[in-house]
Amino acid sequence: MTRVVVVGSINMDLVTLASRFAAPGETLLGERFLTVHGGKGANQAVAAARLGAQVALVGAVGDDAFGTQLREGLTREGVSLEHVATIPDCGSGTASITVAEGDNHIIVVPGANARVTPAQVEAAQSVLASADAILVQMEIPLESVEATLRLGQRLGKPVILNPAPARRVPTDWLTLARYLTPNQHELAILLGADTQEDFRTLMQRAPAPVVLTRGAEGAWYRESGEPIHQAGFPVQAVDTTGAGDTFNAALAVFLPEGLPQAVRKACAAAALSVTRLGAQGGMPARAELDAFLARAA
Ligand code: RIB
Repeated sequence: MTRVVVVGSINMDLVTLASRFAAPGETLLGERFLTVHGGKGANQAVAAARLGAQVALVGAVGDDAFGTQLREGLTREGVSLEHVATIPDCGSGTASITVAEGDNHIIVVPGANARVTPAQVEAAQSVLASADAILVQMEIPLESVEATLRLGQRLGKPVILNPAPARRVPTDWLTLARYLTPNQHELAILLGADTQEDFRTLMQRAPAPVVLTRGAEGAWYRESGEPIHQAGFPVQAVDTTGAGDTFNAALAVFLPEGLPQAVRKACAAAALSVTRLGAQGGMPARAELDAFLARAA
């Protein structure tokens, strides 16, 4: 069983479904509202667990009702919460999400996620030391992302850095990642480049191997030489929230099978994830992914 450790955010997603996005200053009647569990870190942990990995999460929730519910959800999914802190007098992270026009808009208020410290990451050293792969994103303080990259390197563990939401960071950190997993926009921001620049050129300029997600078009990956394309799997998309998280989780889980196979399975898992509502709603179990891949072959 692959062991995956995720260092990242835990959010309650406040989701509104609407026929279109509201314009600035406009009030629009939505179609439906729901609260579902999310956060890039928690989503990646849940997706990896459903795919059969043994998963531990390093993160934080607040001491509010959302925190209790988020913990219960992660426990039900079999994710180890030994290194998830509950921060007193602090709200849990939230994400206000509008799903419309086949896309989403997301505003995250970090809450307790802003209190994940480098010391907390260091305190999880023994768990990280047992990992086959480590996943980290950018919804926690950047110094804690850096601590994860440095600790991963010290322990000789592959760290997958999902640079979302994208911010400019020192290039020397990026070299510590085994893989960077941005979309085109995130890669441009990460490298301080023009967002219109060709993504294949940007991939070749990146200081670490890149696995670049392209939504329904699939993914491109490059260790050295020319970037290679993995086609996406056609599905009827209901909600694309969490597709990137599912992709990253599957990449980590299947990395021992080699990069081309891991990218193929990650594209298939991400495709399945968009067929149901909510970030975690469509994340496939291992058997569902295997059946989907068998049908697609
Ligand atoms: O990647 C999707 C996630 O981004 C949502 O679940 C939301 O919580 C935001 O963190």
